[in-house]
Amino acid sequence: MTPAQKQLLRDTWQQVAPIADTAAELFYNRLFEIDPSTRPLFKGVDMQTQGGKLMKAITGVIQGLDHLEMLVPTIEDLGRRHVGYGVRERHYDSVGAALLWTLEQGLGPAWTPEVKATWAEAYGVISGIMREAARQVTPAERSSELVA
Ligand code: HEM
Repeated sequence: MTPAQKQLLRDTWQQVAPIADTAAELFYNRLFEIDPSTRPLFKGVDMQTQGGKLMKAITGVIQGLDHLEMLVPTIEDLGRRHVGYGVRERHYDSVGAALLWTLEQGLGPAWTPEVKATWAEAYGVISGIMREAARQVTPAERSSELVA
């Protein structure tokens, strides 16, 4: 990712951060609409708290853009934990689509093709690390509390 792309991510995220609660709500509503199979994964979960965690996680990645390699182990752990949450490979595409849609709503006219491509690339990198780590979780670990 180029310095200009990183700056673009920071600038656009800064515009969405003040409306984080609304953005999180929009995001989950959209996710459940486009992929109803994700809804049961959040059974019994307080969605407001969950939305806060998601926004914090994105903020953490944005803040760490210059040293992404330092975040890799944390992102891998996150990916492994998601196996325990029942998250499967295909869910990542749905979450990516819901995230881009949410950013589009939040940014309005600032949502240009370049912004879209850069966010898609950033999500691809992060979710790619999570997916790869999840793929290496063995069936035995899957059913144990190790990844729960
Ligand atoms: C870049 C992608 C993602 C990020 C940054 C992310 C971030 C997080 C964070 C920070 C948590 C809090 C718990 C923890 O740290 O282990 C969490 C939990 C969770 N995430 Fe994700 N997530 C991502 C992708 C997904 C996908 C694709 C799904 C599938 C729909 C998903 C579903 C869940 C569920 C079900 C929980 C657990 C809720 C609970 O039981 O409390 N996440 N996620």
